[in-house]
Amino acid sequence: MTARPDKHDPSSLAFASRAVHAGNRVDGGSGAIRTPLVMANSYALPADPSQMSWSGTDVPLYTRNSGATQLALQEKLAALDGGADAVALASGVAALHAVFFTFVGAGEHVVVSDVTYEATWRLFAELLPKKYGVEVSFVDSADPAAVAGAMRANTRLVHVETIANPTTKVTDIAAVAAVAHRGGALLSVDSTFTPPPLYRPLADGADLVVHSLTKYVNGHGDAMGGAVVGARDLVARIKSEAMVDVGGVISPFNAWLILRGSVTLPLRLRQHLATAQRLAELLDRDPRTAFVTYPGLPSHPQHELSARQFGGRGHGAVISFAVDGDPDAQNRFVAALRVITSAVSLGHDESLIVHVGTSGPRVAAYPPQFRRYGHLRFSVGLEDPDDLAADLLAALDLAIGPVRAR
Ligand SMILES: Cc1ncc(COP(=O)(O)O)c(C=O)c1O
Repeated sequence: MTARPDKHDPSSLAFASRAVHAGNRVDGGSGAIRTPLVMANSYALPADPSQMSWSGTDVPLYTRNSGATQLALQEKLAALDGGADAVALASGVAALHAVFFTFVGAGEHVVVSDVTYEATWRLFAELLPKKYGVEVSFVDSADPAAVAGAMRANTRLVHVETIANPTTKVTDIAAVAAVAHRGGALLSVDSTFTPPPLYRPLADGADLVVHSLTKYVNGHGDAMGGAVVGARDLVARIKSEAMVDVGGVISPFNAWLILRGSVTLPLRLRQHLATAQRLAELLDRDPRTAFVTYPGLPSHPQHELSARQFGGRGHGAVISFAVDGDPDAQNRFVAALRVITSAVSLGHDESLIVHVGTSGPRVAAYPPQFRRYGHLRFSVGLEDPDDLAADLLAALDLAIGPVRAR
């Protein structure tokens, strides 16, 4: 007989039920059936606290260690990603830095994807080498042999993104995990573009999963947070070294908003993924786009890997493309949009688009079309897909001209 689903035991629940119930329990004080927002900085001590560890993180003590709302969020995030434990921090970048700060020291080596979110790139290209003497190799993480070739005796960490920001390069997590482990290193995976239930990198061998909770997990564009999920001993090290002693904790209010937002993650994600696939195909068919890069298109270099790795559930909801024209044409196109908003970030309920130029040292690793045209990073939101399609086509008409007249 299969185990009966029980909301008090997330491991017995399917994903959508976990998204509703994990981290939630009846509040002992008020009887409220929702985990309450607790804004306190400090919590009552036992009668004899003299033997307590002031850096403890397991029970409510002090909000830089273990606020009650943060603990509830961590429990939920661990359940969603299938990890033993999680740590929630103030932003995605705080979570990334926490991993790097905890597991890499002076004179040690990291292998990192040559395409990552901007702050990750700057940490590895400039700040960590300069400040802490960390050695770094940037590699094409879509090629596991290149990762293997970059490993050294002192490699402690391999860091990649499931779908990379902004080029949408896809990394084979199981293959890279095998390479990292053969070399005695940990694999950390930024899965911000592929939150659960789209993908769970721990199941493919990743040691640590990082999310910017600011994006899909919260999903409403109104709270910042970041998380690392993994084995209990690894997460405990991050809590002790990079949270209690560095201090970039999540605010209780943001933790509470993210707890609430994440309830609808599976429903929202399904809509994000379906609309993104439809709009990527629409843009790809249109002769007025210069290129469209999206893992759900057969032309994407890792299309087959994406289909296999993400189990046919979808290919993320960020599309990188350019309209056929110079930077002014990209700006005209964005200015002509009436539903999609020109703003940074991604994974919000509303669709967001950013015109990213062709300058900066990091673009050397981008595909040639990104270097030629710049690109528009389009985060597909939850508006009606027909409205979004109409908005894109109307903006193309205004910025580039009707298809037949060209
Ligand atoms: C892949 C990825 N990781 C991390 C971050 C940083 O997250 P936050 O803005 O919450 O610090 C971002 C932000 O866009 C991102 O796209």
